[in-house]
Amino acid sequence: MTLPFDGAITRYLEEDAPDEIREAIKDADKHDILDPAYPHDSPIDKDDYKDALEDLQEELVRLQADVKATGKRLVIVFEGRDAAGKGGTIKRLRENLNPRVARLVALPKPSDTEAGQWYFQRYVDQLPTAGEMVIFDRSWYNRGVVEKVFGFCTDEQRERFFRQLPSFEQMLVDEGIVLIKLWLNVGRAEQLRRFLKREKDPLKQWKLSSIDVEGLALWDAYSEAIGETLLRSHSPITPWTVIRSDDKKRARLAAIRTVLSRVEYAGKRPEKIGDIDAAICGGPDVWDA
Ligand code: ADP
Ligand code: AMP
Ligand code: MLT
Repeated sequence: MTLPFDGAITRYLEEDAPDEIREAIKDADKHDILDPAYPHDSPIDKDDYKDALEDLQEELVRLQADVKATGKRLVIVFEGRDAAGKGGTIKRLRENLNPRVARLVALPKPSDTEAGQWYFQRYVDQLPTAGEMVIFDRSWYNRGVVEKVFGFCTDEQRERFFRQLPSFEQMLVDEGIVLIKLWLNVGRAEQLRRFLKREKDPLKQWKLSSIDVEGLALWDAYSEAIGETLLRSHSPITPWTVIRSDDKKRARLAAIRTVLSRVEYAGKRPEKIGDIDAAICGGPDVWDA
């Protein structure tokens, strides 16, 4: 069987990747953290992770009960580069929840009809009713990043998006919806290592798309678009939490802790939530660093 995209990821590693990225991957042990700016030397201990995740998942069940009982509405936005760990984090977040309460929204590229509508319209359709938490795996922020990098929208459309964005999100907050925006930040070598793994794993190949392959050479264009997007969409009432995700387990814990910390719910046990790792988690400054 041929590899998807004809082994394009391996070929990129061998022929086109910057030398320091290629060397970082080739020299690395499976458990090494590749991002030189990552603040921990090694991944989180497996048992510590398991224990913490279990506590957090118990708290999520309490949150879910409260959301249902009180009719709260939550929107949790997951953003980040391809292979940043959005899917795996969302999986742990929803693992023990009712799929109807913790509803996942992962929209495909806009249809012709959607492309002719107001940009936010198809996302508005997915907003929660009372008693729901809606989790967006990618969101309206596509216009800030991937649509810019690949030229899927015009500059004028993108400017209109940024102009409307603050009012749009403030309306959600004003409406009483809890809006939580999480940006997973993966380093270049780690992203490539995850793509290589996906390329070789028959169970993970479906996660690779032509966007991922073509995006490899567009790292800097992505960086520029992400930096601008974070800058233009971070505000005191609609803040971003940026999480370094080279260690995906630590990132999962930080993401779930952020969600639990941002909502009040009956029976909340702060000691089960634990402390958010401030070294890997913060505002847009975490992305710049
Ligand atoms: P994912 O990261 O969800 O695996 P991709 O990496 O293939 O998906 O694509 C990234 C994002 O770009 C997705 O949200 C997808 O819907 C969007 N996208 C892909 N093609 C287009 C397009 N032609 N116009 C607008 N958005 C697109
Ligand atoms: P622009 O403002 O259109 O000149 O583009 C600014 C950045 O976006 C550049 O760094 C480009 O690399 C990137 N970019 C814009 N359109 C595309 C495209 N169709 N394909 C690849 N990169 C693009
Ligand atoms: C993941 O690791 O699940 C990613 O963030 C999803 C993707 O590759 O687009």
